[in-house]
Amino acid sequence: MPEEALLKIEKVSKHFGGIYAVNNVSLDIHEGGIWSMVGPNGSGKSTLFNTILGLYKPDEGTISFKGERINNMYPYQIYARGLVNSFQTPRIFHSMTILDNMLVAARGHQGDSMWNSLFMRKKWQKQEEKLIDEALNLLEFVELNRMAFSPAAELSGGQRKLLELAKVLMAKPTLLLLDEPAAGINPVLAKKIFRKLNEISRNGTTFLIIEHRLDLLFEFASWTYVLNKGSIIATGKPKDIVNNPVFYQAYLGEE
Ligand SMILES: Nc1ncnc2c1ncn2[C@@H]1O[C@H](COP(=O)(O)OP(=O)(O)OP(=O)(O)O)[C@@H](O)[C@H]1O
Ligand SMILES: [Mg+2]
Repeated sequence: MPEEALLKIEKVSKHFGGIYAVNNVSLDIHEGGIWSMVGPNGSGKSTLFNTILGLYKPDEGTISFKGERINNMYPYQIYARGLVNSFQTPRIFHSMTILDNMLVAARGHQGDSMWNSLFMRKKWQKQEEKLIDEALNLLEFVELNRMAFSPAAELSGGQRKLLELAKVLMAKPTLLLLDEPAAGINPVLAKKIFRKLNEISRNGTTFLIIEHRLDLLFEFASWTYVLNKGSIIATGKPKDIVNNPVFYQAYLGEE
């Protein structure tokens, strides 16, 4: 029996007035590894992401996650099922310590209640200790553990990117969607981030990544979907896609 897809998109379309931003897209993401989506500017990649995340309702088609239909759910319900995007965690608060920024990211996910904090203090404290442990481990992973008690304002631009990555991992995503994680950062850091993502993917988080830096993306991705004008025009392993003339034509535009 074939393994069930983690994310299944069937004939999804999203229009903005007369613009077919996403046009009849079907694709499967299976559990494990780094999956990628590429295509020229305006080809519909971000619109498709936002539709998956529940920020847009598709005009047509269905989206299922772990066998459950999610295309009529609210973004927070989709998030709670482990389908996460980095922009859904709170922004970085500069006056707070790096560790506290991590804890804020986790708390939203755990759904603290007044009841818990007032009447179940023991349980709450245990949970808090566990969260601190997890946060420190993740900070070590992104090499920020020595700055855990410094205010986030002291982070460099690159370190802030790494903190954002660590923060989103506090939600323990099953499928993490990243829209251009390497945008605006230097090549050395970009490579470092992709190496980290690759490591995380071996521990059970599946990734779907949009990225314009194809050399970097294709080094780590095991599968890619190519979008053009809202439709999937090619799919396969990166090493095969780069030899597909359809892929080049999309990037070069029409004659
Ligand atoms: N909120 C919106 N309202 C109207 N049109 C939109 C909206 N969002 C996107 N579009 C249009 O839909 C099309 C797809 O845009 P989208 O942002 O999804 O492309 P993209 O592949 O992410 O591009 P890029 O690589 O530049 O980020 C474009 O023509 C864009 O102008
Ligand atoms: Mg985009």
